[in-house]
Amino acid sequence: MNIHRYERWWLTFGVTMLVAFLALIGFAAFADNINPPSDMQQIDPTKVAQTPPFDRPGPRRTGADSYEAYYVARVFSFDPAVLRVPAGSLVRFYVTSADVVHGFFIPKTDINMMAVPGWVNTQEHRFTRPGEYLLICHEYCGLGHQDMFAKIEVR
Ligand code: CUA
Repeated sequence: MNIHRYERWWLTFGVTMLVAFLALIGFAAFADNINPPSDMQQIDPTKVAQTPPFDRPGPRRTGADSYEAYYVARVFSFDPAVLRVPAGSLVRFYVTSADVVHGFFIPKTDINMMAVPGWVNTQEHRFTRPGEYLLICHEYCGLGHQDMFAKIEVR
């Protein structure tokens, strides 16, 4: 088979780039130990409902004005569906998924995470302004994706 010289160059170039990028990804994953974000905590995604503290999702008071809020995302809802905290509260969110990858986004705050099965992601925010906040799934997760939301009531 006769391959034109230019075509051979391009093939060599393409294959070289492919090998180089795959090597970089492999290096980052294994040598640099780059993992999904906040890989501090792992969880068996098939046993979320039995694993504390995700067996009882919801808020825990940890101080005078601080809370931890444990969330389970699953098609197509968040548990808890409503979170109530006083204005001024510092809330640390912990989120995992019991099935597929979901988003965890609270507009007007800096909370923007992925709910990844097998992992617990965490971020915190101080709710200084009273009001009703929407928590939405911003990662396409199936036919009911657009109905996947919850509320945070700050009083
Ligand atoms: Cu869950 Cu989109």
